[in-house]
Amino acid sequence: MRRFFKFTGFSLFVSLIAALGGLLFGFNTSIVSGALLFLAKDFNLTTIQQEVVVSSLLIGALVGAFVGGFIADQFGRKQSLILTAVLFLMGSFLLAAAPDFDILLVGRVILGFAIGVASMAVPLYIAEMSHKDSRGGLVSLNQLLITIGILLAYGVSYYYAERQDWRDMFKFGVLPAALQCIGLFFIPETPSWLISQGKHAAAEKVLRRMFGPSSREKLEQKETKNDTPSRKHWKELLKPSVRKPLLVGIGVSVIQQVTGINTVIYYAPQIFQSAGYSTAQEALLATLIVGTVNVAMTFVALWLIDKLGRRPLMISGLIGMAASLAVLGTSFFSNGYNVGSAALGGLVIYVAFFALSLGPCAWLIISEIYPQGIRGRAMGIATFANWLCNYIVSLTFLTLLETFGAGETFWLYTLICLLGLWFVYKMVPETKGKTLGDIQKFWRK
Ligand code: BGC
Repeated sequence: MRRFFKFTGFSLFVSLIAALGGLLFGFNTSIVSGALLFLAKDFNLTTIQQEVVVSSLLIGALVGAFVGGFIADQFGRKQSLILTAVLFLMGSFLLAAAPDFDILLVGRVILGFAIGVASMAVPLYIAEMSHKDSRGGLVSLNQLLITIGILLAYGVSYYYAERQDWRDMFKFGVLPAALQCIGLFFIPETPSWLISQGKHAAAEKVLRRMFGPSSREKLEQKETKNDTPSRKHWKELLKPSVRKPLLVGIGVSVIQQVTGINTVIYYAPQIFQSAGYSTAQEALLATLIVGTVNVAMTFVALWLIDKLGRRPLMISGLIGMAASLAVLGTSFFSNGYNVGSAALGGLVIYVAFFALSLGPCAWLIISEIYPQGIRGRAMGIATFANWLCNYIVSLTFLTLLETFGAGETFWLYTLICLLGLWFVYKMVPETKGKTLGDIQKFWRK
């Protein structure tokens, strides 16, 4: 199998089990927009309380991202995944059964925490379990499942909206969480982490399952051993050979968010309504189209990411995102009767380019560029930056729209895309086809 697909059935299986964390990430961040309307009615929520319900998840994610790196380095990648799966299960039950606003908040913070940890632990786990030639595609299964989770949330909201049943919407999240809890019994700890703990025999056993008893296995094994001498301290993060990758990882994480993807993912119906889609149903249908394109183009990214490489995808993606945002921004100035179709076209193309580039590449790059021993903590810092920017963008978008108007706001995001393009072009190295050890050697040089 490896000869044709460059990965074994085993690598695919463990990656899919881990990537269920991505599905839960996507589903739980998006389901609230569908549930909120009915929830607010049932619990008589004020506007501020509604905002708290939405943002509590992001606060939980910030904390999760911050401590997740430490948990992954200290207790292992698999243990981190087990922790998140159990929390996803608990959080979904709490939300579905919440008798009042307070319990609802507890559920949201727990889910947010799980999302924060999972968003770094899933790519980290898969990167350390895959072969260099298929790492891009396998790690990006995480992004594929995030987009499927988002689409699932749109679909579930649409389905239960008629019955106004917000509890059933949340209950849906129990299913993938339970599946992951079971699946995690069957996957091993990563060889890199085992070696960092001095457990060489256990690591070799996993490597044999990953690559079979071939010479390639020995090569990979040697590289892993050479590059994972011991567990390292926080102050390692300040060493010159780590400072640069740290900056690159924070940079791509920030760019992934400040180029505005979640203005679309979280607020698409509002954007479509301000572009002239008069009924909620029309706006929701347009949103479903955006979600479907997001999934479809992520498939294309999975196919290309190990062939073309990360840099070409990110560079062309950022150019496409900037161009489509410029069209979108301009369409809002024109005031003609075609604003609606231009908005849909602009958003669909923008999301397509994001799905092809920054969506998968940002999570992939941060799972590849850090030295073993502090990889979890360094990823945690980049992930924290990602969630912080996500929070700032989602908090300011509606205010920007109201203060400056849609046209100006999308032009602002166009400029940010161009800045992002400059950063990627100048700073981000190509990691395609390199082992994690090769990448570490590159930074040391
Ligand atoms: C981002 C999320 C975003 C999603 C959209 C992920 O890579 O981290 O913030 O909502 O992609 O597909």
